[in-house]
Amino acid sequence: MAAVAEPTPVPEPEILAAFEAAKGFMPRGEGLALYAAATEAAALGLPLLEVGTYCGRSTILLADAARRAGVTAITVDHHRGSEEQQPGWEYHDPETVDPEVGLMDTLPTFRRTLRRAGLEDHVIAVVGRSPQVAKAWGGALGLVFIDGGHTDEHATADYEGWAPHVAEGGLLVIHDVFPDPVDIMTGQAPYRVYLRALESGAFTEVAVTDSLRVLRRTAPGI
Ligand SMILES: C[S@@+](CC[C@H](N)C(=O)[O-])C[C@H]1O[C@@H](n2cnc3c(N)ncnc32)[C@H](O)[C@@H]1O
Repeated sequence: MAAVAEPTPVPEPEILAAFEAAKGFMPRGEGLALYAAATEAAALGLPLLEVGTYCGRSTILLADAARRAGVTAITVDHHRGSEEQQPGWEYHDPETVDPEVGLMDTLPTFRRTLRRAGLEDHVIAVVGRSPQVAKAWGGALGLVFIDGGHTDEHATADYEGWAPHVAEGGLLVIHDVFPDPVDIMTGQAPYRVYLRALESGAFTEVAVTDSLRVLRRTAPGI
């Protein structure tokens, strides 16, 4: 069987190794697609923004693409974990719990991840709830990557809060888009948001890699 070509450009081996060593939820193939999108969007000269830092796995890729283009990656998370990451749920990792307060806190692991990758200077980490941060945000963005909460409430708020900031020609990237409900335990809210973006007429799909969808702003609106 012929090998399937990976999206290009591919990060340097040490960046890829840091990505693969980091805790998180992004498989390599989707990571490479995110990196390719981030590299293209960074050429617009605008910041790249992620909703859903967790421990920094995908942030490494946005940060490296930003570094190469001389822009900044911004990553937003309250660091208390999504519903499906809480104790007793399938995606829970006990190492992410702060024993003093008894709640998840992924910020320390995220900071170590970024430091190990040598990318601290290329990222602004915003600790807060995505809709609240979006309300306070004023500027245009080259790329918005939505990988935060997977309930309809959260995914919709992420879309409504951040998609309006995607510049003309910029990219909206959505993770965990599963058109078939049997494919996923965490629900189809990202899929519904993806459909909304397409139906808005403001975004056009440019790439599909497993559950990662890349849309380009081709018209004003939303
Ligand atoms: C699926 S994880 C992100 C995975 C990460 N992008 C990676 O590559 O491993 C989702 C993250 O979104 C965060 N999150 C969920 N809802 C949020 C909200 N409303 N505001 C800010 N962060 C949120 C959670 O704390 C969690 O860290």
